[in-house]
Amino acid sequence: MPTVPIQIQQALDRVVANLPSPAQSFLARHGDKVAIAAAGILVAFVARKIAAGGKASKADLTKDLTGKVAIITGGNGGIGYETALQLAKQNATVCIAARPSPKTTQAVESIRQKSKNPHVFAEDLDVQSLKSVRAFAERWRKSGSKIHWLINNAGVSSHNGRQVTPEGLETMIATNHLGHFLLTNLLLDIIVASGHARIINVSSEAHRNRELDLDDLNREKGFGNYSTYGESKLANVMFTAALARRLQGTDVITQSLHPGVVRTELIRGAPLWIRIVSVLITPLKILAKTPWEGAQTTLHCALSQEAGYLGGAYWKDCQVCSVRSKQGRDKEAQEKLWNVSAKIVGL
Ligand SMILES: NC(=O)c1ccc[n+]([C@@H]2O[C@H](COP(=O)([O-])OP(=O)(O)OC[C@H]3O[C@@H](n4cnc5c(N)ncnc54)[C@H](OP(=O)(O)O)[C@@H]3O)[C@@H](O)[C@H]2O)c1
Repeated sequence: MPTVPIQIQQALDRVVANLPSPAQSFLARHGDKVAIAAAGILVAFVARKIAAGGKASKADLTKDLTGKVAIITGGNGGIGYETALQLAKQNATVCIAARPSPKTTQAVESIRQKSKNPHVFAEDLDVQSLKSVRAFAERWRKSGSKIHWLINNAGVSSHNGRQVTPEGLETMIATNHLGHFLLTNLLLDIIVASGHARIINVSSEAHRNRELDLDDLNREKGFGNYSTYGESKLANVMFTAALARRLQGTDVITQSLHPGVVRTELIRGAPLWIRIVSVLITPLKILAKTPWEGAQTTLHCALSQEAGYLGGAYWKDCQVCSVRSKQGRDKEAQEKLWNVSAKIVGL
């Protein structure tokens, strides 16, 4: 059995001296094991603290957002739900842009209850469908409402072979990039007119070392379960940089970010073996963020003064970070992605 460090042993001895006698005799026999267990708990606690990552500041998370309007795609679960809940707690009007389902209805109810904010509602959006995106934008325009945050958060990571939407688009590229690209463009004049607004694109470190084939954005030739997810997330980063240039001179800031490795349902569409592995490594999930922790960088980008100055930046753990793809930093490639995307979505 490994030896217990002397300081831990001494601390344990002091605790033992003050315990009732049955507990003293138990610890006299098993003191080493108890100390090792305590050290294990301490290590797990420290690991958890490190895994939790950066946090939005208390000042930002207590600002009063009365009268401000946020749209959060995929706000019915995971990171999006926590983002929506926090903004609702701060009195913002929150639109959960999601597909209609019991999950969406329950999310709205739950956010209303927890935040005590009645100004939370769902609006139908299937972001992988260009038709649905256009209908959403049209309804929003008719409502006459402002937009102070557009949080492009919805995402899929299907790992199940190439699948196409009824409109013929590869599902991950359509959901993670093209739908949000169209949505943002269709709402852009409303966002600019709203003043002091932010457009936040939830990307991923999965973009690292990826390169998009801009002549095959729909991945008809080069599809890969993992690579295409990473490419769709690279598109988020490149879109953000190109959008930031178009927003110069306005009061709108755009950011992209990596939320961390977060315990959500993102891999629910994955093949059975991936989901089995995921269950088997459950104890290791202590090293992943909770959805609330995963929402922190989004909230920092949405609420901090600092993020208000740094248009087009990429964030991780509430800090600006370098883009980990050569193509992702290439202005010409960013502009080409914009043009190719605009052509596909019919802008
Ligand atoms: N979890 C991580 O470790 C991690 C790491 C890096 C980046 N991210 C990114 O974080 C974002 C949020 O993901 P998450 O981890 O919170 O996963 P999640 O729990 O699976 O949430 C994804 C959300 O996207 C919505 N969504 C998917 N397809 C949609 C569609 N066609 N139309 C409308 N909504 C749709 C889902 O709604 P339904 O349930 O109704 O389909 C769900 O609310 C994603 O962009 C993801 O790529 C996550």
